[in-house]
Amino acid sequence: MIGIQDVKEDAEVKAIMYIAENQIEALGFTEHSVRHSSIVSKWAGEILEAMGGDPQRVEMARIAGYLHDIGNSINRYDHAQSGAILAYKILTRMGMAFRDAADIMMAIGNHDESKGLPVSDITSALILADKADVHKSRVRTNSTRMSMENMNIHDRVNLAAEKSHVYVDKQANEIVLNITIDTKICSVMDYFEIYFARMQLCRRAADFLGSKFVLIINGSRLV
Ligand SMILES: [Fe+2]
Ligand SMILES: [Fe+2]
Repeated sequence: MIGIQDVKEDAEVKAIMYIAENQIEALGFTEHSVRHSSIVSKWAGEILEAMGGDPQRVEMARIAGYLHDIGNSINRYDHAQSGAILAYKILTRMGMAFRDAADIMMAIGNHDESKGLPVSDITSALILADKADVHKSRVRTNSTRMSMENMNIHDRVNLAAEKSHVYVDKQANEIVLNITIDTKICSVMDYFEIYFARMQLCRRAADFLGSKFVLIINGSRLV
């Protein structure tokens, strides 16, 4: 079985991720680099493990998390679908069983809120992990020099996010996204303006895993 470490060390993966990050940087979007991929990989694995996933599917969730944004090497539009096909090609070239690679392809192809749905356990864990990564370190340094009015809402929300973490509360059977926002930089309403569709997808993803999605912002339970 191909493991997450094999994927991280693969020369083709490294090259494609480098180009993906270059494109995202050129577009001025928030960071989608190895930092984001590694966090999503870790959290997707943790979520599935806590929900009782078997070790092989947990490892597949880690791989899906690491590769989920490689479609940004082609174009930001439809990056989920293009990345899914790229990942399938890479993973089968590395020797992964066709069915496992196809399962990861499906998860990546469904991770974006514009067209995706939680169609499997791996997809659900990936969606929850990806949407949870909101953090000020994702804002480009040139954006932080702009005034608040000129900064785009994604940057403002990310810049305001002091802490963000997703975890499974097994006792309560809840998947909790806990965010600390500096409300001097962005209001909770700003957060909802761009994250409403994402939070709805998270709720569906938690539902697929047989759990309840809970959003906590600055200590208050909101959904
Ligand atoms: Fe994405
Ligand atoms: Fe992502």
